[in-house]
Parts: sequence; structure tokens; C-alpha cells
Amino acid sequence: MIHESTKDRDYRKTRLRLQTEKSLALSGAASTSERHGDMRAISAAVDNLLKCTGFQGRARRNCLDYRLERNEVYLPDLPAAFDGYTILHLSDMHADGLVDGGEGIMRIIETLPCDLAVLTGDFSFEESGDYFEHLLEGLAPVIRSISARDGIFGILGNHDLLEMVPQLERMGVQMLLNEAALLQRGTAEMVLAGVDDPHFYKCHDLKKALSKAASDQCIILLSHSPEIAEEASRCGVDFYLCGHTHGGQVCLPGGIAVFTNSTCLRRYVSGSWKCGAMQGYTSRGTGFSLAAARFFCPPEITLHTLRSGSLPSEFCGQVEEHLGRLFNFAGHAVFA
Ligand SMILES: [Fe+2]
Repeated sequence: MIHESTKDRDYRKTRLRLQTEKSLALSGAASTSERHGDMRAISAAVDNLLKCTGFQGRARRNCLDYRLERNEVYLPDLPAAFDGYTILHLSDMHADGLVDGGEGIMRIIETLPCDLAVLTGDFSFEESGDYFEHLLEGLAPVIRSISARDGIFGILGNHDLLEMVPQLERMGVQMLLNEAALLQRGTAEMVLAGVDDPHFYKCHDLKKALSKAASDQCIILLSHSPEIAEEASRCGVDFYLCGHTHGGQVCLPGGIAVFTNSTCLRRYVSGSWKCGAMQGYTSRGTGFSLAAARFFCPPEITLHTLRSGSLPSEFCGQVEEHLGRLFNFAGHAVFA
């Protein structure tokens, strides 16, 4: 696949400049290796804290407690030929944390043949050029274990570098950089679009990604974070798939996120949600960042099943929408 975006010199220059600035800003120095030292120091400090408090073992075990989540979504614009279409969704692998070599993830996805697989960014945690070569080698067995009839598609997250794209594509992941692919069943079609990271790099270009989509087509959008949900809804996206928040990663009992590293509404932090007529789903992710710790927020592998038509009861949808707003209001009141 030849990317229109990587041929776009302005996009490429902006992305690479921001990557360099980020690396320098986070390190506080010109050396990427110094920045890695900082990040490792923070990770070590959190690890030590967990060790001292006796929670380290539990925190690590929780990171490998993968849950298979099944999500059925009704899309009024979905052609009948796609009814029952299955999408395997992995997000935020942060493969630096594949402490078991990815075995736990592979055990689940090897049993899940699907129509399509999508990877919604943050393949890595660290971000240096020499590091990602080794990192992606670790990811390769996981990607090879995916069996998807229409292929594997991915997007970049805020921890991912543009330089990773060729290597990911050699592994069989078709990266969508503000562009779209057409999925077909017989004569029926739907659009799969993907944008670059809207959280940190903000190099996403939704209009460009959707430029070839017709208004009556069913559109699935891959975006690393839920932070452009409202814009996507206005642009006619039908189903929005994302991650980034880790569902909070370290939560209060009941999975209540305290920190989400995002500016989105709390109802978009994990699981299924609605934004206007658009359906959405935020994965809690399969990996972790900063330290091997998850509480009340297990890592997930998601299998979406698409249904052609409306929700069985529109009333249920309205109740869900109102509960989402109420939860969001309460969440902001407590944690803002
Ligand atoms: Fe992220």
C-alpha cells in the first residue's frame, strides 16, 4: 500500500518535527538516551513503591489477566451483506510490557478467526529509533497469530513513530495515515478509515481520511483516542474504534478511572458509547504504560460483531445515552 499521507511532504515534515520536539521536551536535553533514563527512573520508582506496599505481585498479575470482551453493535447504514461481520480489536499493546512474550494475548486471539483485525495504536511505549526495531520483533508473533479474512489494519498512537510504518507493513499490518480502505462483500461496500494520533501529535486529518467516502456509505473510523468523537460524529462516521485511555489502568473498585490521560468526556473512557447517531468503543488496551500495574481494570481483547439495522429498542439507546451523561457529570464532579 502506498500512503498518500507519506507522499505528502507537509504531513511527513510536521510529524517528524513534532517527534523530535517531543523527545527533546520530555528529556529536557538533546539526548534521546537521557530521556529514556528519565522514563526508566519513573518506572523504577513506581515499581519500588508497589514493592514496598506489597502490591507489586498483584499489579503484575493483573496486567496478564486478559479478558475477551464481546461487543455487538447495530449500524443502520451497514449493508445486509456485512451483518454478522466480526472485527478483532487490539489497542495500546505497548509491547515493552509483553512480559510473557505475548503468549497470553496469542492464546486468546488464536481461537478467534475474524473478518477484520484492527490495531488502534500505541504499539510501543518508548520512542527511540533503535529501540522500536527490537520492539516490533516482539510484536511479530502476536501479529502472525491473527487470522483475519480481510486483513489487519492499524493506525499510529502518541507513542508511535512514523518510521515504524514500513516495518509494521512488512509484518502485514496495513497502516491508515489519514486515509481509507474499502471493504467488500459481493457488491456491498463499507469504508474503513484511519487517522493519525489526535491526542499528542494532532496530525489527524479526518476530512482527508473521509474524502473518498460517500455520505450513504457505512464508515468505520480508527482513531487512537476518543478525543475527536464529536467531530467524527458530525462527519458522518457510523462506528468509532479507539483506545489510548487504558480505561484508567489503575482504577477504583468498579473500574472507575481516576486518571485517563485525555481530554474526552468520561463516558468515552472505556467500553461502548454513543455520540449523536455514531456508535463508539474505547478499548482498555492490552498493555500498560509507566509501570506493570493494573487495578480494577483488566487488559482486554475485543471482538466486535456488526449488525445491520437499529438497536432492538430505541428506548434502550436513549436510556443508555442519559445514563452516560449522568455518569460523566458525576465523574467530573468527583475527579475534575
Ligand atoms: Fe496513547
